[in-house]
Amino acid sequence: MGDPSNVERDIDLFGDEYVQGAPEVWKRLRSECPVAHTSRDGGGWLPTTYTDISSVAYDTDHFSSRDVGVAATPDGVGLLVAPPITSDPPFHTDARRILLPYFSPKAVEEMREVTRSIAVELLDAIDPSDTVDAAEEYARYLPVRVIGSMIGLPEEDCELFTQWAVDILQSHPDEFDRRTGGTKEILEYFATTIADRRRAPRDDLISKLQAATLPNGDPLTDKHVLGSCFLLLVAGIDTTWSSIASNLLHLATHGDDRRRLVAEPELIPTAVEEFLRAYSPVTMARVADEDTEIAGCPVMAGDKVFLPFGASNRDPEMFQDPDEIVIDRQENRHFAFGIGIHRCLGSNLARMELVVAMEEWLKRFPDFSLAEDSDVQWGGTQVRGPRSVPIRVG
Ligand code: HEM
Repeated sequence: MGDPSNVERDIDLFGDEYVQGAPEVWKRLRSECPVAHTSRDGGGWLPTTYTDISSVAYDTDHFSSRDVGVAATPDGVGLLVAPPITSDPPFHTDARRILLPYFSPKAVEEMREVTRSIAVELLDAIDPSDTVDAAEEYARYLPVRVIGSMIGLPEEDCELFTQWAVDILQSHPDEFDRRTGGTKEILEYFATTIADRRRAPRDDLISKLQAATLPNGDPLTDKHVLGSCFLLLVAGIDTTWSSIASNLLHLATHGDDRRRLVAEPELIPTAVEEFLRAYSPVTMARVADEDTEIAGCPVMAGDKVFLPFGASNRDPEMFQDPDEIVIDRQENRHFAFGIGIHRCLGSNLARMELVVAMEEWLKRFPDFSLAEDSDVQWGGTQVRGPRSVPIRVG
């Protein structure tokens, strides 16, 4: 049991120390105060061990997903409905089941060559004689084009989608207008697209969701289709983009690992798992439905709890030498894709994208390193990743 009097009360989840160096902060908290607390931005609890994070993620009786945003939603502002991520059981099961077939290993395999051709096209556009920003010029555009084409959205709107995802997931809690502006625009965009598809169905995910039914035979409401499309777009962009960027940053700063993956490309999928473990981008939130506790810390009904899945992946109780990044780590059942019923529905797709992105980058640029005097800044907190990775090729 934790000692409630030993709670750290001033963690700033959006401050520089946390955003730039979350793994170090988790390490300190794990030894001093494994369930920390923040009084800022509406407040909330921050468990940092696998045991405590998973106990909340599995406990859907006490902890709801109705507000999964790390930044607080001000009172009086309606919460976004984006099934299944904002749904609790039993509805969650139905909402998730409808989407699963479109992200199965087989469905994802069908996207592999499309993904590869997008990666090649992005690499063709890069001028290697100058400094290349691997995050901005490469990582940023791959996931949005893949998920955009799966949902059935025009490629020319990708820049808009990316900007909305950035506004929603990367803004500071103070930037409430930016966040709600992004959400409003994306919802309006989908409302129009969904109405168009009702009139003229196509062979895309929007039309398939419109044709889907719940177990009781009811069709999905437009609000449900809209919320799910919103979720897929937002969940599919920033997460994978952050991972591709952190993977390339790692290789740009660890020449031995880079040379090994160039020589042994069959190791790329194993390395990608290790990078997911070590640089896990995603933190989610839950809301306590009734008074309860986490490891002895009293949690009141309505309190937020943050689930930094990356902290589970750095927990020495779960991983040997968790701060060592071992690209051929054999035992690696990591939690980057979450824990429990909300475990990432797009994990097959994300893994495929990460592998293809690295394969194609290393084929094109086997020799690269971080540009001199680079000051890489990480962004976060809901989705954490290096926002700029300046690289010199050759
Ligand atoms: C590296 C990339 C990714 C990471 C690290 C990641 C991580 C996560 C995590 C941690 C969750 C759990 C949320 C929770 O517990 O509240 C989640 C859920 C989800 N992810 Fe991902 N994700 C990634 C990519 C994707 C992609 C490409 C898609 C597809 C569009 C996607 C779609 C979803 C959906 C729909 C859920 C909600 C599942 C549910 O509520 O049952 N994700 N993801």
